[in-house]
Amino acid sequence: MSVHQSGIKRITTHQLQAMKERGEKISMLTAYDFSMAKLLDGAGIDVLLVGDSASNVMAGYETTLPITLDHMIYHASSVIRAVKRAFVVVDIPFGSYQGNSSEALRSAIRIMKESGAHAVKMEGGHEIKESVVRILSAGVPVMGHLGLTPQSIFKFGTYTVRAKDDEEADKLIEDARLLEECGCFAIVVEKIPAQLAKKVAQEVKIPIIGIGAGGYVDGQVLVMQDMLGINKEFKPRFLRRYADLDTVVTDAVSRYIEDVKANDFPNENEQY
Ligand code: KIV
Repeated sequence: MSVHQSGIKRITTHQLQAMKERGEKISMLTAYDFSMAKLLDGAGIDVLLVGDSASNVMAGYETTLPITLDHMIYHASSVIRAVKRAFVVVDIPFGSYQGNSSEALRSAIRIMKESGAHAVKMEGGHEIKESVVRILSAGVPVMGHLGLTPQSIFKFGTYTVRAKDDEEADKLIEDARLLEECGCFAIVVEKIPAQLAKKVAQEVKIPIIGIGAGGYVDGQVLVMQDMLGINKEFKPRFLRRYADLDTVVTDAVSRYIEDVKANDFPNENEQY
């Protein structure tokens, strides 16, 4: 029975917190469009992230920097129209919150009003504190994002594992504590050592969701295209592929082309 038929209610931030407290892991995937969001929600995913990774996997840009607030709202509203159960979080894109808390608040409010999303996600710690606090005081739930923060890729210079040295690890733990104190309901930690992620998940009471951060955290997130094997060139160590849609789609399209060329499609039963 699908979750739609079973009468299960929508996931909330309170339920995510309760999941951490009872040791039930949180499942999270990215989604950017109506059709896939409907499948992922129907399969029972807890959280859908309309990630700014849409910039890479949907629009083909090299980084997450070019995607705009209008693009994110378009993707988020498509996802929201599909979802009955999952909690939907939307990334505030680069340039829509850094360094200006009034603009941050305006961006968060636009996302919530125009897409119907349930929460926003923002990259960074102490440097975005003022924006996080303003958004939270407007009643918008905020998910933090620490470790590898792709919106700062030109500051880091590479996509390698973050916080391997003590100084960066200590700062990350401080930032996690700060985000919790501000009132964030969860934090994504990306590409950090598993032992550090474990420490963060033990230090703070809110759920810690990992990507490339090992198994000692409260939940996992992956980019949908990566885990379904649509994007085969991307092969980081942390990725587990659950399907090979590259092959499935290529085979199906090749057979369709053959049938069309051979005038085998449509046949007698496939026409009016
Ligand atoms: O945009 C995104 O997909 C993300 C995940 C990698 C967590 O932020």
